[in-house]
Amino acid sequence: MKIYMTEDYQTMSRKAANILSAQIILKPNSVLGLATGSTPIGMYKQLVIWYEKGDLDFAQIKTVNLDEYVGLEPTHEQSYRYFMQNNLFDHVNINPANTNVPDGLVADPQAECDWYNQVIRKLGGIDIQVLGMGHNGHIGFNEPGNAFELETHVVDLSERTIQANARFFASADEVPRQAMTMGIKSIMMAKKILMLVSGEDKAEAVWKAFAGPVTPQVPASILQLHPYVTLVGDKAALSKLMEEKQ
Ligand code: GLP
Repeated sequence: MKIYMTEDYQTMSRKAANILSAQIILKPNSVLGLATGSTPIGMYKQLVIWYEKGDLDFAQIKTVNLDEYVGLEPTHEQSYRYFMQNNLFDHVNINPANTNVPDGLVADPQAECDWYNQVIRKLGGIDIQVLGMGHNGHIGFNEPGNAFELETHVVDLSERTIQANARFFASADEVPRQAMTMGIKSIMMAKKILMLVSGEDKAEAVWKAFAGPVTPQVPASILQLHPYVTLVGDKAALSKLMEEKQ
């Protein structure tokens, strides 16, 4: 595993954008696995800036997103489809047909998940999967205790995740109770992983994930077994992990 420790959120975002840019430049038809949450926003901003400068071309890029809330329409401000349009897709020359996010409004979410697995397979798998991490070590919406061997599936969100994400909604009551998420198996099948972490409130989860035992209680800990992980974090988020390594 390669770890890049940066001074702050800004430099973390720039480093992550550099890594993703290298992927796009070296393989212009890459399949990018993308993530939402507050952590990657700075990275997307930086990619848009470099696109505007003419340094990046998304014409042949394909994307698959990690997850989506069940019950939110794609135009809902808190849906992950809306997030992706707003933070990246609407600002670069990506072909809309090449962007994939599970549809939150389908009548049968599990069938949507099965279809999503086929989409990933037809694309030939994910070249690089961007990940953030929840405070309980979740990745995508794989909550503690979820089985490691699943591909895209429907999950019940934990109370902690509902509370953490309530800041984006008018109240915790409005946070959907379920989501569709790539499973740990889907994530582990990605050729490369790029994990971003920022802020002292993530330090404990980062430490547990990368210095603790591999356990479904800390979903991100499975990444210790992935052959190609790059962890980019600011020094606040990496503080506890780096203490451990000294
Ligand atoms: C959500 C998303 C995850 C994300 C996590 C952390 O629950 N499903 O993909 O990594 O939140 O979000 P943040 O980056 O805002 O801390």
